[in-house]
Amino acid sequence: MNNEKISVALFGFGCVGQGLYDVLNHSEVLQANIARIGVKDPKKQRSVDASLITYDKDDILNRQDLDVVVEMITDTDEAYAIAKTAMNNGMNVVSASKKMLATYFAELFKVQEDTGKALIYEGAAGGSIPIIRTLEEYYDNELLGSLRGILNGTTNYILTRMELENKDYGDVLKDAQASGFAEADPWLDVAGFDTMYKTILLSVHAFGVVLKPEDVLTLGIQNISFDDIRYAREKGLRIKLIGSAAKSADKFRVYVMPRFISKEDELFNILYEYNAIEVEGAFSCKQSFVGKGAGSHPTGSAVLSDISALTYNYKYAYKKLNKLRALNGGRIAGNELLDKKFTTRVYIRFGDKEELRDLDIQHVVEEYRSPKVNFIIADVGFESLYKHKGNKDSKLFICEC
Ligand code: HSE
Repeated sequence: MNNEKISVALFGFGCVGQGLYDVLNHSEVLQANIARIGVKDPKKQRSVDASLITYDKDDILNRQDLDVVVEMITDTDEAYAIAKTAMNNGMNVVSASKKMLATYFAELFKVQEDTGKALIYEGAAGGSIPIIRTLEEYYDNELLGSLRGILNGTTNYILTRMELENKDYGDVLKDAQASGFAEADPWLDVAGFDTMYKTILLSVHAFGVVLKPEDVLTLGIQNISFDDIRYAREKGLRIKLIGSAAKSADKFRVYVMPRFISKEDELFNILYEYNAIEVEGAFSCKQSFVGKGAGSHPTGSAVLSDISALTYNYKYAYKKLNKLRALNGGRIAGNELLDKKFTTRVYIRFGDKEELRDLDIQHVVEEYRSPKVNFIIADVGFESLYKHKGNKDSKLFICEC
């Protein structure tokens, strides 16, 4: 591939697809020709020339003249099939589908190895923040100890507006949807899953470990109330949804949970749809990366950067993954390296004490009961928190202290 004019086909023309289309049309350096746009719904009006649109994915996947397929659709299995087929048919792929990438990471890694084709996905984590290539290139030889961040624009937007504008959770979620920040299924945002998929991808590039979505503890903000916001405010804290991955002896602690953040913390002032990622290395020490984490143009700009990288034959080297694999007898290191055996201090707001029965509460540090609100601060066995992952019956709000 060279820098003259590359031929690109898009799958999906939703929020990110349209953002990419705009930023591509404004790019002064990258010369790309959009050859085709594959979409699903024939009834939807599109803002592009109808001759570009196709409803048959094979119109794109069977072409011989394409350099890059850009996949930005919400159906996870369909996105996986597209990415796999495109690589098998000799095309490089750019994807922004974090759920698909995290769910099928090991399979897609193998397709890349078998075909020699590139699959790159800067837009899948941190929106406009160039974090994946930074982990790949800049930190490729650094001994990273931990990584944590605000990785979901929708939840940060909700938390910010609840706290600073006293806005109702449901109303702000609607605004986040209208602004194009939220997923088609916003449960993925509020219950922490979107943050978890991104944390899995960042863990691959930071540490070389490939975790499965079902194994990573994921707690969200779906049960948050003004009582929790008020409690945090009184203590000079803010609540943020944090994805974190840290080395712990020869294992890794990787999870997603709301957390109280103090004023001294870099993440305290990350507001609205902004994301931030803090990386800590043995020699580089702490470094933070901040930028818009959601929205059509910020994510479109990350996708554009990937398309541009393919013009100079860029692909991820997966140095850390391959190093860990070599130490692991040739097998990709995964869930066996996940440390779940520790205790963590959490704030738990509950209605009835019965709701706490399945938690391994080892030590209660503080307990508050009133007719309106009950909470405890306690040291809890980490593994017992999994019962509340994606659990629509659970009414607890759990926040790490
Ligand atoms: N729903 C996602 C978010 C979109 O709110 O961060 C960007 O990945």
